[in-house]
Amino acid sequence: MTASPRHLLFSLSVLFLLTACQSDDPAPALSPEPSLRVEVGTDPHSFAEFERVHIRHMRLDLDADMNRRTLSGHVVLDLERPVPGFQRLVLDTRDLDIRDVNAVRPDGTFLPVSWRLGADHGHLGQPLVIVLPQGIEQVRIDYASRPEAFGLQWLDAAQTSSGKPFMFSQSQPHYARTWVPLQDTPAVRYTFEATVRGPRDLMVVMGAAGNLFERNDSGEYHFEMPEPIPSYLMAIAIGDLVFAETGPRSGIYAEPEWIEAAAAEFDVLEEMIDIGEDLYGPYRWGRYDLLVLPPSFPFGGMENPRLSYITPTIIAGDGSLLGLVAHELAHSWSGNLVTNAAWRDLWLNEGFTVYFEARIMERLYGTDVRDQLAVLAWDGLNETLQTADERDRQLVRDLSDRDPEQAFMRVPYDMGRFFIDWLEHRYGREVLDTFLRQYFDYFAFRSITSEDFLDYAREHLIEAHPGRASLAEFEEWLYQPGLPDTAQEIRPRSDAFTEVDGWRENWQTGVVGLAELPVADWSVHQWRHFLIGLEGLLDAGTMAAMDEQFALVEQQNYEILFLWLMRSIEAEYTPGIERLESFLLEVGRNKFTQPLYAALAASDWGRDWAVEVYQRARPGYHPLTRQAAERALGLTD
Ligand code: BES
Ligand code: ZN
Repeated sequence: MTASPRHLLFSLSVLFLLTACQSDDPAPALSPEPSLRVEVGTDPHSFAEFERVHIRHMRLDLDADMNRRTLSGHVVLDLERPVPGFQRLVLDTRDLDIRDVNAVRPDGTFLPVSWRLGADHGHLGQPLVIVLPQGIEQVRIDYASRPEAFGLQWLDAAQTSSGKPFMFSQSQPHYARTWVPLQDTPAVRYTFEATVRGPRDLMVVMGAAGNLFERNDSGEYHFEMPEPIPSYLMAIAIGDLVFAETGPRSGIYAEPEWIEAAAAEFDVLEEMIDIGEDLYGPYRWGRYDLLVLPPSFPFGGMENPRLSYITPTIIAGDGSLLGLVAHELAHSWSGNLVTNAAWRDLWLNEGFTVYFEARIMERLYGTDVRDQLAVLAWDGLNETLQTADERDRQLVRDLSDRDPEQAFMRVPYDMGRFFIDWLEHRYGREVLDTFLRQYFDYFAFRSITSEDFLDYAREHLIEAHPGRASLAEFEEWLYQPGLPDTAQEIRPRSDAFTEVDGWRENWQTGVVGLAELPVADWSVHQWRHFLIGLEGLLDAGTMAAMDEQFALVEQQNYEILFLWLMRSIEAEYTPGIERLESFLLEVGRNKFTQPLYAALAASDWGRDWAVEVYQRARPGYHPLTRQAAERALGLTD
């Protein structure tokens, strides 16, 4: 990758901050001074000069204070120095209180070193520049996180179902730096160990080996991550957790109230791991457990290694929303094993994973369900492609001057997935599966760019199987905005949805009445398709009649309920708006809250009401959900 203007800007601004703005609490002046020129590496969202010095292993030692909402203690970083004699280590930090920095000599004794905390770069935080004396390969940083740490959510006793406090991290894409000073780029991988002390009546878990099946009365927990991971996969949670086994190497952690329903809903977990291995090679992480979070968890799921995080809003009672579990599990190969080197390459993580997820779902539930899910994704993607900026309509995107949060939209997910579908179509399933198994094996535990993928595919697909697809076609998928014309070859179709379309039309034209719709046979996804097709077409009277027939406002399935609430906003349907209020106070999953707040803000009657509801809901929301809701409501830009 070449130096972009952004890189230059960084170099200059870091240069400036090192000369002009030193930390409020300057380090003891020791020689030599940190040299002034900091060049930014190939990841525009990290200050770390990781090609010269990088973290290889980390030892965390932290105390969690649930009342003060802090993690405090120290981290010891073992370094590797590909450029010998390079005398500076640059770490990413954001809102951390750095208390002390010491080099650790090979004999274990400390050597105070000179360090500076640079100027605040907003969401990127502040670089921590540390002088590395000759021969030093270990650095210890004593620090504490702040209550407002963007990557941590602290819930007090009144905000959980157990009545006890809860804390969880969300490090992706670049929030690990808000709870550990580190090189916060997916290009750097390291192993780690951790000791964490929490309140005795709570349990500490991490995305690592060593999670216990029962609370430890001492309150002290030990973890180890023997496989090298990037920082965005670091995860910690503390709460009133219990465990239920789902198989010899899998299980569920949740607050007591959720555990039974969660264990029943996710009882296919072990089978999913077996399917994943059968498709794309060994699961290389030991155990695979799920942590069910409180409903304020801002995402559907997060693929933290060995312990993926899952929203309780997919516990539908019938397994209908398990695609999300398949998705997070699939990341154990696509993403966690073979990792995007920077956020511009996110489609390598998410696109492959959505494809892999679909393959697991097909094995478990058949081609009919697979096709329904594919059509939902296709339609959603095409809607996004119609409205998105040109620069956001391609797989590989230049995000260098943007918040990497912006990387997460439908395009890298669903366009990435349809690209792999298209490869399957052109090469055949057998060739593609063999290719993917080799790809995961070849790049295992490495972070790669889109161009690394392209080079590998050129050799193992394009040249090895000539006449199926050209390099130009690959490049069109990766670098041109929108779906290529050839994507029509893999346009998904679902007979089950065609039937729903027929019924919807017959109902709307008065050919059949509500009571005649054969909804007893409809899948959750048919319902979703039915309600998506009614966008902007319902009035409050019709919605009341539908509720009388189907009780949609009482839906337990959050995907269906969400769509019903969207329709309620459009139609100003009072029972729906009432349900919406309690929904917004309970659920903090951004995929739901952001569009709901945006729709309310766009209505002439709803904005003030939405702001008022938001103010009440805000204390229970994650910082990410707050940020998105405030943007949707026009409270911040
Ligand atoms: N890695 C993402 C979660 C994520 C999203 C982290 C955005 C940071 C920013 C996770 O694997 C994911 O994709 N979750 C989706 C579910 C999936 C089925 C599309 C989600 O949370 O909705
Ligand atoms: Zn994902």
